[in-house]
Amino acid sequence: MEKPTVQLIKVTKKIGKKTIIHDLSFEVPKGEVFGFLGPNGAGKTTTIRMMVGLMRITSGDVLIEGHSITKDFEKAIKHVGAIVENPEMYKYLTGYQNLIHFARMSKGVTPERIQEVIHLVGLENRIHEKVKKYSLGMRQRLGVAQALLHRPSLLILDEPTNGLDPAGIRELRDYLRELAQKENISVVVSSHLLSEMELMCDRIGIIQNGKLVDVRLIKDFVSTGEGEAGRVSFEVDSVERALAALSGSDLQAAAVNGGIELVAVREQIAEANVLLVQAGVKIYGIRPLTKTLEDKFLEMTGSDQIA
Ligand SMILES: Nc1ncnc2c1ncn2[C@@H]1O[C@H](COP(=O)(O)OP(=O)(O)OP(=O)(O)O)[C@@H](O)[C@H]1O
Ligand SMILES: [Mg+2]
Repeated sequence: MEKPTVQLIKVTKKIGKKTIIHDLSFEVPKGEVFGFLGPNGAGKTTTIRMMVGLMRITSGDVLIEGHSITKDFEKAIKHVGAIVENPEMYKYLTGYQNLIHFARMSKGVTPERIQEVIHLVGLENRIHEKVKKYSLGMRQRLGVAQALLHRPSLLILDEPTNGLDPAGIRELRDYLRELAQKENISVVVSSHLLSEMELMCDRIGIIQNGKLVDVRLIKDFVSTGEGEAGRVSFEVDSVERALAALSGSDLQAAAVNGGIELVAVREQIAEANVLLVQAGVKIYGIRPLTKTLEDKFLEMTGSDQIA
């Protein structure tokens, strides 16, 4: 297997007597969008700051393309593009002028590469306007373009969807995925918003109180297994008659939101349907209630309380 772009090995951060990050280990392969998900104060920004060498690691290490960020900073950081705090832009310069400026700061960025990153983030039409006229989403894109100039193999974005509207989030999501594939880079994004991680990432790691609670493929999170019981809701004309119709069976039904819900395997859904129809209950809809990532996340972390 190809070696991962980034590898965290038992990364620990102590500030004073407090351990903020405990023994964090995970790795991200090429072409993957990895989501770093956790409630406020969980330790996402702290971890990212250590990954890009903005903060000292108390123990453990981060390897980027095999180079240690602590022992071989220059070689490691060469492969990283990141937006940790808001990207610094010159507002009175155009987007293009900003990119030229940042291009001068790293070796070997050609005018062709500048055009390429502009195209990658879809800013062609507005790149010659002053940044002060940009919307938040456009600034975000310019930030990503800047972070990509030197062809990093790892792109790290801390809370990239902050302040974006739903359309902006969707666009970001689409081009991050495209980026991961086209440029074959790894992308690490952090967020406390579960619903969008579900759509943006291939895999997520959940962090809580500085500990990695779980790392899983999105598809494993969302789908319920074959033969596994799931909640199903029936939209009916009479909840009372529906419950009465099922009361003789071994199906456990309950009145929820003006309809009924039951926990059933596939066959039992058909069984319930037959019983209801036979009892003369009108059914307007049958809907499986798949657990969202959010449900699973809350189940796992107990709550979204800040520790
Ligand atoms: N310099 C510091 N000194 C002491 N504690 C700190 C310091 N920086 C961060 N912390 C603590 O470390 C924990 C993790 O903070 P961090 O900013 O990494 O969380 P986060 O997951 O990024 O949260 P958010 O979603 O709010 O951005 C918090 O409890 C925070 O108070
Ligand atoms: Mg943060």
